[in-house]
Amino acid sequence: MSQRSKLPGITLSDRVLFRRRLLRWYDRHKRDLPWRGSRDPYHIWLSEIMLQQTRVAAVVEYYQRFLRRFPTIHALAAARASSVLAAWSGLGYYRRARMLHATAREIVCENAAEFPRTSRDLRALPGIGRYTAAAVASIAFGEVTAVVDGNVERVLQRVQGRKIATRELWETASTLVSPGRSGDFNQALMELGATVCLPRQPQCAKCPVSTMCASRGELPTTKQPRRKKRDIYYGLSCQNDSVFLQQRPRDVSLMPGMWELPEAAPGNGNGSCLTLRHSITVTDYTVRVSRQPPPLHGPGRWVPRAQITRLPLTGLARKILRATKVVCKQFSQSNL
Ligand code: ADE
Repeated sequence: MSQRSKLPGITLSDRVLFRRRLLRWYDRHKRDLPWRGSRDPYHIWLSEIMLQQTRVAAVVEYYQRFLRRFPTIHALAAARASSVLAAWSGLGYYRRARMLHATAREIVCENAAEFPRTSRDLRALPGIGRYTAAAVASIAFGEVTAVVDGNVERVLQRVQGRKIATRELWETASTLVSPGRSGDFNQALMELGATVCLPRQPQCAKCPVSTMCASRGELPTTKQPRRKKRDIYYGLSCQNDSVFLQQRPRDVSLMPGMWELPEAAPGNGNGSCLTLRHSITVTDYTVRVSRQPPPLHGPGRWVPRAQITRLPLTGLARKILRATKVVCKQFSQSNL
């Protein structure tokens, strides 16, 4: 059971076996995801940026809608920042959308819309780090380079049966990556971590490399950060088919320039008209929304319902406006 792994002093034949078993499993069991049918670097780049900090299930719909709205890197570069943020609204971590937009402009303006083809050149672009550069270079261009994300880290540590520092993780992944199918290999290792080698309940019976694994799921999992609980109150003011919304200041670090409902004091207003839950990173919010007159002071304006979804709304504002039927789901999507 706890046969010690020979990685990374791994022999050539073990490496070959690891690759072969992993790739065969991937060919049979990979999820059918919309970016997997493409080698267009724009598509791959977009999917990798969306997948950072966001679950695959949540990304699929956004990815397809975003590509309908901005089908090419030219279309993205030519768009206004507010339209890009509106298409991203609800995915969170909006800095990703701003960087994506800035980088698209740089590629179109400085590089004649040609994507750099190597991980080294990709990394020179703003907002493209080591992981994204390696993912795009291997998946779109077949560069033989490894990727390490949270899933790969967990898989390799379990295979090795010990904690491994970042530098060694990248080295280990590099010794394993398939020379002929680097993009598929990288996706296969991430896929294994996402669907089989799970953080809490690894499904070792389904794992194609379990006989080469030192821990078979026994390695202690990383501790989840403690979640915080907060209450938050918002006021909903509607008049003549318009809603009162406020724009967040442009100089705040969290969601600058995005639109939301005005905050309200607890217990004010005409009773709670809606209570919902919303999670951001490590905080779980209980959100209470009540009918309120618009605030007397401060920024904000009446926005006609038909124009709401053209604004970059925060994910929470969008959720509240949908739940209160101020905008309907179908309506808000067709306008993106
Ligand atoms: N996580 C991030 N990118 C991925 C990909 N291309 N395949 C599987 N999981 C991923």
